[in-house]
Amino acid sequence: MVVEILIRPTPAHVARLVARIVLDRVRATPALVLGCATGRTMEAVYDEIVAGTRAGHADLAQVRTFNLDEYVGLSPDDPGSYHHYMRERLFDRIGLSLERTRLPNGVAPDLAAEARAYERAIADAGGIDLQLLGLGATGHIGFNEPLSALMSRTREKALTPTTRAQNAEMFGGDPASVPARALTMGVGTILEAREVLLVATGGAKAAILARATEGPITARISATALQLHPNCKVVVDEAAASELEGSAYYRFSYDNEPEWAPYRSDPAL
Ligand code: GLP
Repeated sequence: MVVEILIRPTPAHVARLVARIVLDRVRATPALVLGCATGRTMEAVYDEIVAGTRAGHADLAQVRTFNLDEYVGLSPDDPGSYHHYMRERLFDRIGLSLERTRLPNGVAPDLAAEARAYERAIADAGGIDLQLLGLGATGHIGFNEPLSALMSRTREKALTPTTRAQNAEMFGGDPASVPARALTMGVGTILEAREVLLVATGGAKAAILARATEGPITARISATALQLHPNCKVVVDEAAASELEGSAYYRFSYDNEPEWAPYRSDPAL
């Protein structure tokens, strides 16, 4: 199976399972190139990665990170920026040297040049080994809003009203306060990651998750492009899974595939 959907009981199980997979990959490849995502869903995942690091499951000191996206116009120390989010949620908590981390620079004087430099930096690092992804209300991955080309590269994108409303909570509740544009890895950039983990929790994601994973591939929903990826896992809770047609089969897969044996024997996952 190329895209594999793992349904866990609660968001806490999802966060622990995703963190465990990340830590296991780092244990196997200490200099892993990790693609990081932001958003509320990822907060619990980073909490669990931090907890796992402190418990000695893996040491992230050699890891390099590339984030999916950053708002245009927000400097790295702006509290609404993804630079700030990542330092608060992960980098500072595990003592990861900021030299090993990279996000697009949303205040670069030439955003097209910054986008090209970002692509070069990913290539120079040898490509992304494991890319974490959240799922936007529009079905976006990164900030690849509807009709993003499925072969797109890192570039500037205008955000939809739906996305600005979804992220308004982080900007005092007013969608108009959410930056209107972002720099984001393209769908094509994301598809080049050697492994992808898409994470979605909560009933609000149920309909878009079903369209993203079981619907036809379309540029209207950039997450559908993941159906083309040879090594993509989708980790969701029961609420997010509630509109999936194939859930009985997906459950069978987690409960029976040998790959998941070490995970399913742990009730916390
Ligand atoms: C933002 C990010 C996306 C992320 C999405 C999910 O839009 N740019 O990469 O997938 O948030 O947000 P949440 O987890 O808060 O639902």
